[in-house]
Amino acid sequence: MRAAALDWAGLLCGLFAPWAAPPAHAQAADLFANHCAACHQADGSGTVGLAPPVKGAHWARLEADRAYLPTVLLHGLSGRIQVDGQLYVGSMPSFSALDDAALAQIANHLRGLQGAGAEVVYVADDFKQLRPSAGSPTQTRQHRARLLGG
Ligand code: HEC
Repeated sequence: MRAAALDWAGLLCGLFAPWAAPPAHAQAADLFANHCAACHQADGSGTVGLAPPVKGAHWARLEADRAYLPTVLLHGLSGRIQVDGQLYVGSMPSFSALDDAALAQIANHLRGLQGAGAEVVYVADDFKQLRPSAGSPTQTRQHRARLLGG
């Protein structure tokens, strides 16, 4: 009886208490699972021949430029890249259809997969500011090459 009463309480909260939403990190994991994991895997380790790992030592250089990750997400990325000795010649779609807050959550989740702490680095403003700027998957590829020095 007691368990049933608790279930009802949970159900009512879910229906009528939008402030009782799941914590942000759970939402971020869901966003990543829904939009990214099919290609990059839930742990970001990638799929050989399809999509690169989104973690590894080279990220120290990529993330030295705070705009890089938002640029990939808003403008996409295409062209030949090499990650951990594997060649990828794929196309990373733009996710500009997602709103700024969702993209910031995904970006922070990705940092978590890279081993960073749970601190929030990216905020919706990073995406809002970059969104109107011109960009293309090929330009992101050039941006990446500049950051990695080759
Ligand atoms: C349809 C498959 C696909 C999906 C879905 C996808 N990606 Fe990608 N992603 C790629 C491919 C392919 C590349 C490499 C593009 C290339 O070869 O130039 C890439 C590259 C990237 C890079 C750049 C890696 C680097 O080393 O510079 C990041 C960051 C990234 N993806 C993050 C994400 C995130 C976050 C999501 C979810 C919002 C996502 N991707 C969804 C296929 C995908």
